[in-house]
Amino acid sequence: MAEKMGNLRRTHYAGELRDSNIGKEVVLMGWVASERSFGAINFVDIRDISGIAQVVFDENTPKEYLDMSNKLRSEFVIAVKGTVRERSSINEDIPTGRIEVLASELKILDESEVPPIYVKDNDNVSETMRLQYRTLDLRKPEMQKNLLTRAKLYKVTRDFLADNRFVEVETPILGKPTPEGARDYIVPSRVNEGKFYALPQSPQLFKQMLMVSGYDRYFQIAKCFRDEDLRANRQPEFTQIDIEMSFVDVEDVISIQEKFVKTMFKEIADIDLEIPFKRLTYKEAMDRFGVDKPDTRFGYELKDISDIVKSSEFKVFSDAIANGGSARLININGKAEDYSRKDIDKLTDFAKTYGAKGLSWIKINEEDIQSPISKFLSEDELNNIIEAADGKVGDLILIAADKDKVVYDVLGNLRNHIADHFNLRPNDTYDILWVTEFPLFEYDDEEERFVAVHHPFTSPMDEDIEFLDSDPGKVRSKAYDIVINGDEVGGGSIRISNRALQSKMFEKLGIDEKSQEEKFGFLLESFKYGVPPHGGIAYGFDRLTMLFTGTNNIKDVIAFPKTQSATDLLTGAPISLSEDQLSEVHIKTNLE
Ligand code: AMO
Ligand code: AMP
Repeated sequence: MAEKMGNLRRTHYAGELRDSNIGKEVVLMGWVASERSFGAINFVDIRDISGIAQVVFDENTPKEYLDMSNKLRSEFVIAVKGTVRERSSINEDIPTGRIEVLASELKILDESEVPPIYVKDNDNVSETMRLQYRTLDLRKPEMQKNLLTRAKLYKVTRDFLADNRFVEVETPILGKPTPEGARDYIVPSRVNEGKFYALPQSPQLFKQMLMVSGYDRYFQIAKCFRDEDLRANRQPEFTQIDIEMSFVDVEDVISIQEKFVKTMFKEIADIDLEIPFKRLTYKEAMDRFGVDKPDTRFGYELKDISDIVKSSEFKVFSDAIANGGSARLININGKAEDYSRKDIDKLTDFAKTYGAKGLSWIKINEEDIQSPISKFLSEDELNNIIEAADGKVGDLILIAADKDKVVYDVLGNLRNHIADHFNLRPNDTYDILWVTEFPLFEYDDEEERFVAVHHPFTSPMDEDIEFLDSDPGKVRSKAYDIVINGDEVGGGSIRISNRALQSKMFEKLGIDEKSQEEKFGFLLESFKYGVPPHGGIAYGFDRLTMLFTGTNNIKDVIAFPKTQSATDLLTGAPISLSEDQLSEVHIKTNLE
């Protein structure tokens, strides 16, 4: 490359030229973003990591270079020497729009074939093409901006945590299954016949052992691997900011994490956040918003109307309550007229995808009350429901009755769905809150036993320990999530550091001594020799980057992401292996 550049050395980045550079001779290097050739005068936009600048070749350019500029096509790599001058037609839309570079020399450093996708933001090209031609896709200004924001987040993270005595430690990628509960990615061992490593779903157990080893405050920007169903904010391999601290309780962790998040927002988005952040207990989050990661920028809060309809003639409601469930509503204030019957049918279909058997509705019109269930309800019931909803003319009330879990899921998701429709969840405002006091256990209907909501090392709340035996479902944990705009961006807990309590926890979860030993023996062994009280948190690094870049697609903030079916369209991974390669790692497949 060096000899190709001849005696040209880059002096400036294209996107950084300004009025103050007028009259200066500069050398730029980059890609041809666009060219308009008229033969005697040619305009070329040159693009580099910093942006774009316009270059002009005309009768003042030595003929040799003017002729050469006629050959330029999109994505050729060039070096241009020239003088910065004021532009005659100023373009205020781009930062370099007041200047242009009059070329005096040109070198074509490399040619490009016609690219299969345009290097242009918001081009309507399919995601498949974008991922397949990722090098071109990543050349787009928007994508470069995203990855630069991501890079800044690494730096802000390292600076803040190092300044606050957090020690960066790497933990193994080849390891044993971790307790997060998704499916593992596994790697066969060649030298240990028939044995496998599991890739970490998080560094959870290692960071706890580092606390036992006295490192006091740990962090790592850690790759994690989870084989689970993928969504718009989930990838099979993703990145966490993983943190653990010793000699702390919930308040200590939350208070330093608020400073960290405040610093991130200031440094990256120049936004001043007020701390402390809002807090909701899990119970309050569910009762008011139906989800444990509420977006509280808009209303439509849930109201429990079980008391009103528990003895109703309308069996859909009264039976649901008799079966231990509930009837709840949300009031979509002032939107009755926005929803035709057809539109409400669509909402019902949406509700059904969350397990609803149906959706009841009441429209409060100027002249009457319209509802398919009014004929099943007494006048009192109807009036009391409307009163509970704080219903006014123009409101649309939606009601779901079922098991609590279904009712929450249906109304919580409808709430967000409708808010999205009315654009009440913009990407440039931030709603930040902690959700605390999660239940320690949840009952698994299929397995007919209690399972840990987080992992078996999560500490119960001190005041609830007494219910571990009598009423496990009532026990709350010292777990907390940080939620931004209705997305869980981080979560953690105070861990159990008391051996008797840990045994009790395993007992409650039905993890017998043999499987304790098998799964976590190494951790329990290390816990014999002096465990400090400790706890921590992990942030989804990709999700934080999504917030700061304003994208809803996690693939836009990861250089080389995977598709919904966990494939890499760029490299073609995963691939089949030859029999030889498989037998070397002692694997036989039963595929035809
Ligand atoms: P948890 O499982 O809640 O906690 O993960 C922490 C955060 O990681 C992000 N995240 C993901 N991001 C993208 N793709 C995924 N597949 C994915 N899965 C999780 C989320 C989540 O809040 N060891 C514990 C933390 C602790 O207790 O300290 C843990 O991993 O933003
Ligand atoms: P049905 O008796 O099933 O025809 O239902 C009568 C009305 O109740 C319809 O408007 C349904 O949409 C509604 N509905 C049915 N099941 C539920 C439910 N679980 N929660 C709320 N409304 C329901």
